[in-house]
Amino acid sequence: MKHVISSYDFSREEFLKVFQLADEISEGKLKPDVQGKVVSLAFFEPSTRTATSFATAAWKIGAKVIGFTSPEGTSVEKGENFADTIRMLENYSDCIVVRHKFDGAAKFASEISEKPIINAGDGKHEHPTQSLIDLYTVYKVFGHVDGLNFALFGDLKYARTVNSLLRALTRFKPRKVFLISPPQLRARREITQELNYEVVEKESPYDVISEVDVLYVTRIQKERFPDEMEYEKIKESYIVDAKLVNHMKRDSIILHPLPRVNEIDRRVDKSPQAKYFYQASLGVPVRMALLYEVLGGG
Ligand code: NCD
Repeated sequence: MKHVISSYDFSREEFLKVFQLADEISEGKLKPDVQGKVVSLAFFEPSTRTATSFATAAWKIGAKVIGFTSPEGTSVEKGENFADTIRMLENYSDCIVVRHKFDGAAKFASEISEKPIINAGDGKHEHPTQSLIDLYTVYKVFGHVDGLNFALFGDLKYARTVNSLLRALTRFKPRKVFLISPPQLRARREITQELNYEVVEKESPYDVISEVDVLYVTRIQKERFPDEMEYEKIKESYIVDAKLVNHMKRDSIILHPLPRVNEIDRRVDKSPQAKYFYQASLGVPVRMALLYEVLGGG
């Protein structure tokens, strides 16, 4: 595997291979060892889970980690451009994990760098390694990804995890995919038009919630709103609370890429459907498996 820029970079077989490697790593059957390899983190945008789980994953497979999780303190502050920063990290490491506020930044880096680039989120565009974690969680809970009803809920316009998940699902056979959002935050046409399955758009979760197997909740992406007033109008309109969860199937699950702001009531955390912290915990085995593949070990 070379660069990981989009969920489209994975075939169904490649998704399943990462899941299988993550299983083997978690069960102790596979002990990846890529000693001597160096992984660069190049995070130009804030991150908690993605940066720390990539670093943990790298260390656990024997690689060393260099780079930065904030451009503060780097030569970016002196005016060094993105391309030159990537060129330096390409010299020092075996793969570069990039997060940036601009759509297309990871793709641009992959055109400069001979070393593999992993997109850890580019603007409102994609976040493919989050989709690996999302679908691995589904696979762990249900034993498969095919044949389930998904509902993506919240900010479907600016959340890059939504784009990557919708694209990742083209590699599987979802039964139904509902897109639930306020009208202003509907999923992007350029993404939904190209999918190989039907999506059904709704404004109220109550119309479909009793059919849903996987409820995927996203934060309103405040930082990507062109207009603060628009954000203020919408910010608390979409909430997963105990009342909504009461309408869900007992064996359904709630996922969220996190960070959660107010869109899931904290009281929901105790419900059996709440799987978002478990999902976050799977970031380490999934990223171990992915780095192992990218660094040539798998
Ligand atoms: C997501 C992101 O950065 O896109 N976070 C993450 O990586 N788990 C989701 C978000 O910020 O809302």
